Amino acid sequence: MRIDVFTQVPHAFAWLTEQRPLAAVLGGELELRLFNYRDSTPLRSGQVDDDPYGGGAGMVLRVDVVAAALEAAYGDSPPARVVALTPQGRQLDQALVEELAREPELALLSSRFEGFDERIVEHLCTDAVSIGPYVLSGGELPAMVLLDAVSRRLPGALAEGSGEHESFSAALDGGLEYPHYTRPAEFRGWAVPDVLLSGNHATIAAWRREQSRARSAR
Ligand code: ADE
Repeated sequence: MRIDVFTQVPHAFAWLTEQRPLAAVLGGELELRLFNYRDSTPLRSGQVDDDPYGGGAGMVLRVDVVAAALEAAYGDSPPARVVALTPQGRQLDQALVEELAREPELALLSSRFEGFDERIVEHLCTDAVSIGPYVLSGGELPAMVLLDAVSRRLPGALAEGSGEHESFSAALDGGLEYPHYTRPAEFRGWAVPDVLLSGNHATIAAWRREQSRARSAR
């Protein structure tokens, strides 16, 4: 799939692209393009935002700037899903991640500070997504969260099978994952549950299912 991110700070994404899962799928299952609104702005001196009508603090990303950026990237055929990252959007959950991961093309629009001119969300986007009920200083971190969550669903992103039994997966009926332990078997008197040392795979599987169920019910 291809994901295009529109941002004022494309270099912020460098770290993410060097890490798994993104690094594992880049150039293969995932093509990532970063667009800076400044590169296509029709305004002078790279201006992309402006004071809010009606007054108030902060700057608002301009609708003409975003329209120009989308036009420069797509002409008149934008992707089927153009997603604005905004705290007013639909809250991101694993079901929405799976849905977006099935798209051949996605555009993610971020803004800084006070956010988007509402006409961007209304007329230029198909979706508005929030990563949680709190306000961040921009849409870059939310775009990275979405990028990470979507790219780990792509073939080859994870070690074989490791995505199958994680929290919110179908294998766990959308519930939480069971707890994990590794060596040492005892540390400061904190022991690993005996069942995990038993070598009995059926008992271990049953214990894990029960742990998942109990955690998900909390
Ligand atoms: N921009 C600022 N806060 C946000 C949030 N919680 N989710 C998505 N975009 C945002």
